[in-house]
Amino acid sequence: MPFVITVAQQKGGAGKTTLAANLAAGWASGGARVALLDIDPQRSLSRWHALRAGNAKATGAIHLSEVAGWRLAAELDRLRKNHDIVIIDSPPQIDTDARLAIRSADLVLIPIQPSLPDLWAAEGTLTLAKAEKRTVRVVLNRAPASGALLGQVTTEIAARGVVQLQSRLGNRVGFATAFALGLGVSETAPKSVAAIELMTLLAEIDAGRG
Ligand SMILES: Nc1ncnc2c1ncn2[C@@H]1O[C@H](COP(=O)(O)OP(=O)(O)OP(=O)(O)O)[C@@H](O)[C@H]1O
Ligand SMILES: [Mg+2]
Repeated sequence: MPFVITVAQQKGGAGKTTLAANLAAGWASGGARVALLDIDPQRSLSRWHALRAGNAKATGAIHLSEVAGWRLAAELDRLRKNHDIVIIDSPPQIDTDARLAIRSADLVLIPIQPSLPDLWAAEGTLTLAKAEKRTVRVVLNRAPASGALLGQVTTEIAARGVVQLQSRLGNRVGFATAFALGLGVSETAPKSVAAIELMTLLAEIDAGRG
């Protein structure tokens, strides 16, 4: 069964594209047939994918589609047919395409940097995903190892009845370095803390697929 993950969060710069790229690279390296669907007009993920095409260190093939508007639903159906995982990277706003991407997702993944404004910014996405009866998971990004703010944000997430993944990503320059090469952290520095965090997250998502 193909698994569709939509990475969504209205807050700009929360880490949606970084997460989509790294998860895709991690799964592709493991042999999964992975497709990316970039519905963000900024096209950051498409540009990452173009860099990847020229990098011999890319360990697994990833398909990329950048389709918007009336063609989106048909493209998603097409991708579902011959991929194990489809990851949709959405823009920092809920437009018509983003609504369809959330509606079509088996999992809506919401990266949140541990601060209250970032959590508040996610509320629209959370409400929509709930209305569409989608499975939603929050993943903390650029998270410190500990601290009062981390605890406060975690409590606030739970108070909204939203499940937060146990895995989280720290604030690690390796994510930006890998992105600039069209790679994921599991490819540039497989033994780094960033790669371990990423692969732990990937395993947690896999385990939750049931
Ligand atoms: N865990 C991390 N550690 C360090 N830097 C990170 C991390 N996650 C993201 N970044 C950096 O934060 C910036 C924004 O990340 P990214 O582009 O993935 O966010 P986004 O949610 O896709 O943004 P937009 O809303 O504009 O699409 C980038 O420079 C990226 O390298
Ligand atoms: Mg983005």
